[in-house]
Amino acid sequence: MALPSACITLPLSDAARARLAEACETTWTTPGGGREELLGHLAGAQGMLCSAVFPVDAAMLDAAPNLRVISNFGVGFNNIDIADATRRGIVVCNTPGVLNDAVADLALALMLAAARHVPANAAYAASGGWASRASGPGLGFDLMGKTLGLVGYGRIGRATAQRARAFGMRILFHDVFADPGPGDDAEYRDLDALMAESDIVSVHTNLTPESFHLIGAKELGRMKPAAWLVNTARGPIVDEEALVKALHAGTIAGAALDVIEVEPPAADAPILSAPNTIVLPHVGSATVEARAAMLELCLSNLISVLGGQPPLACVNPEALERALARQVS
Ligand code: DGY
Repeated sequence: MALPSACITLPLSDAARARLAEACETTWTTPGGGREELLGHLAGAQGMLCSAVFPVDAAMLDAAPNLRVISNFGVGFNNIDIADATRRGIVVCNTPGVLNDAVADLALALMLAAARHVPANAAYAASGGWASRASGPGLGFDLMGKTLGLVGYGRIGRATAQRARAFGMRILFHDVFADPGPGDDAEYRDLDALMAESDIVSVHTNLTPESFHLIGAKELGRMKPAAWLVNTARGPIVDEEALVKALHAGTIAGAALDVIEVEPPAADAPILSAPNTIVLPHVGSATVEARAAMLELCLSNLISVLGGQPPLACVNPEALERALARQVS
């Protein structure tokens, strides 16, 4: 029997290619290749492997009538129209769990970078400020004793809380539930109260239509003037225009962001030059360990569904039965 076909949109290692070759016929998009090229590949594809920054919309799904599985290399799936995929009987898989530690580590790294002016101090030393005894960035602040407000208290929020407790921080959280679970000392707050009480607000929720611009001018306006905003989740959860205004007005102390609204940004994007702002290029999961585990899960999800088996992780299980039952044409 002919192997099912899959369209692969990421460069993969030889080992990953060899593993895929045993399970499916693959077509590969060229790096930097346009949307038209991809649509051509999708015409016969039953599977697609893509990354979380790769938009999968109705027009793309129209071009893929045989598609049964989209395996996303990432935990976030805001790039995919899940309702439409479900309607079409396409199962959407992601990579939850395996990057919690990497992203939580980066959230703490951003908090420490903010608290101790790490980028500004490094720039001061490198640019000759230290050598010439010019005045430096000034004093930072301790994390010990500060209040961390977590917007989203799922896997990554909890991993961040675990680390922050070790630094002596008190934990508040906001989520759709108020009970953090047995033995967990994190305290629930509504969003307004969390924004007002926290010394650092850190975002860990999914991007959905409900969480788009969840943190806007009103919420930023509730923050303490000395408070920092950290975001390692998705840029559009924060209204960036409102954030830039707050940073210029000095109504909050700063922002440390691994994600922004448009990625990659234009060279002159206002957030890049806003005062007291640290921007990283979306590297939350960028460790050798996390990326290897993500790839393993992503390949396993794709190969399982193409082989007629349930995947280890999917975001629309209601589509699974149809996806598995669909005949290869
Ligand atoms: C994820 O997995 O969603 C990370 O943000 C990488 O895109």
